[in-house]
Amino acid sequence: MYKKIAIFASGNGSNFEAIAQACANGRLNAEVVLLICDNPNALVIKRAEKFNIPVFKFEPKTYANKAEYETEIVQILKKQTIDLICLAGYMRLVSEVLLNEYEGKIINIHPSLLPTFKGLNAIEQAYHSGVKITGVTTHFVDKTIDGGKIIDQVSVAIDNCELQELEEKIHAVEHELYIQTIKKLL
Ligand code: GAR
Repeated sequence: MYKKIAIFASGNGSNFEAIAQACANGRLNAEVVLLICDNPNALVIKRAEKFNIPVFKFEPKTYANKAEYETEIVQILKKQTIDLICLAGYMRLVSEVLLNEYEGKIINIHPSLLPTFKGLNAIEQAYHSGVKITGVTTHFVDKTIDGGKIIDQVSVAIDNCELQELEEKIHAVEHELYIQTIKKLL
């Protein structure tokens, strides 16, 4: 039976597309049934439309607080049996409202070898720090920024490459690693 995945994203959506594509071509025995997006202008929404994936868009500032919008998201998610929630460039902390409902079923991808270089602009942080090796991590989500138990990691050599080249290498690794992690968990 097809497993059901919901993806949360805020921006570009290349990881969203990699997962949707892997479902569409049968590499993952799963279906992306919903995109949750906190930025109505994000490119990821256009990508979802291309795959005919329903989108729930919301603007956090129109809610009293995080608990209020997460409660609404839980109500929407609970209309179906969601097997896995994948954060893919979702630039917000998740609270107990979602975590309690989907314990152990929310994962994230982050472009560094966690626990180093958490937070925003992780690729740039690593690049400017002088380390020779960085990478990509998939992990279970908890209440902290890029925290939670690590699932998989792949290292990427920085060598003498330009920042843009490193970003491209990391994104290519992300798109492959996220599929492998999802496959393993499903
Ligand atoms: C990805 O590099 C992802 O690892 C990162 O945001 C980017 C989203 O790109 N996530 C984080 O930094 C989480 N802390 P995408 O929108 O093209 O998938």
